[in-house]
Amino acid sequence: MSPFLLTRTLPADATDAALRADVLSGLTKQPKTLPPKWFYDARGSDLFEEITRLDEYYPTRAEREILIARAGEIAALSGARTLIELGSGSSEKTRHLLDALPALHTYVPVDVSESALAGAAEALLAERPGLSVHALVADFTHALELPESPGPRLVVFLGGTLGNLLPAERAEFLRSVRARLSPGDGLLLGTDLVKDEATLVAAYEDAAGVTAAFNKNVLAVVNRELGADFPLDDFAHVALWDPEHEWMEMRLRARRALTVKIRELDLVVQFEQGEELRTEISAKFRERRVREELAAAGLRLDQWWTDEAGRFALSLATAD
Ligand code: SAH
Ligand code: TRP
Repeated sequence: MSPFLLTRTLPADATDAALRADVLSGLTKQPKTLPPKWFYDARGSDLFEEITRLDEYYPTRAEREILIARAGEIAALSGARTLIELGSGSSEKTRHLLDALPALHTYVPVDVSESALAGAAEALLAERPGLSVHALVADFTHALELPESPGPRLVVFLGGTLGNLLPAERAEFLRSVRARLSPGDGLLLGTDLVKDEATLVAAYEDAAGVTAAFNKNVLAVVNRELGADFPLDDFAHVALWDPEHEWMEMRLRARRALTVKIRELDLVVQFEQGEELRTEISAKFRERRVREELAAAGLRLDQWWTDEAGRFALSLATAD
């Protein structure tokens, strides 16, 4: 039997309180917003996995290509005995790294989605019976209590998820990652890169409508958890490139004037026809910005690798 632990640092009622606070503040300001971590209930996690297999959604394939090409180098440079993965989801791409690290002692996948963690752990334990897996159900933007485990440590943050944080949140997040590392420990970071608008928009607006269903899932979560009555069909999925900030912005546009009741908050929210609720940004990077943001957090960019087509980058950084 391989050791497996799952620690929940988000008790059910704390999650509920956080959701209430986010929905209350997000829907009572202009423009209205909802934070992206609430996309990922079990259905949201499944829909995201479906997104990663779409023809239009190149980031997963590009990042996997880099991981396969560089896993040996990453393993040699980091010498990691503990691998901590933030927003690990299915841990599907991470396998290439785990396979390149025979001396790995502990893998710590961290995600808000318990269903994604459970699915990933089940698959991993079958493949790597010797590995100790300590899954954490936790919000990676809050203080993380990491389990005791041997160094060196490598924190892995893939999928371009860093780009889902606003610039000020990114700075704080990177500093908090740095604070959990000892000198010589590493961060492996996946970032999507600035490219032509058509490719970017298509990746977030697929023909089959999977991305639209994923975006609307956040409304389904609020309906279920807080007794709201968002009519999902009355919202249209919108994906826009913002060239000034160099980020994609996902929104939900009310097709008609609407009144939504959120029973558990005793809140009534009005949408005008055409009004847009912002659900996510996905920032796209250039090497210089990644280097500067890492440096500001006390992390030195040592390696920068892209896929052959130059769509996506993996950075290996070291804590000074
Ligand atoms: N790393 C995977 C999944 C990326 S999708 C990949 O590259 O394919 C983003 C993942 O981060 C989801 O699994 C989601 O549940 C998780 N996530 C989003 N916000 C989070 C937060 N604040 N704390 C912890 N996990 C979060
Ligand atoms: N981290 C993913 C990204 O930014 C999340 C994502 C993919 C996403 N497609 C989406 C979020 C559509 C909202 C809507 O690429």
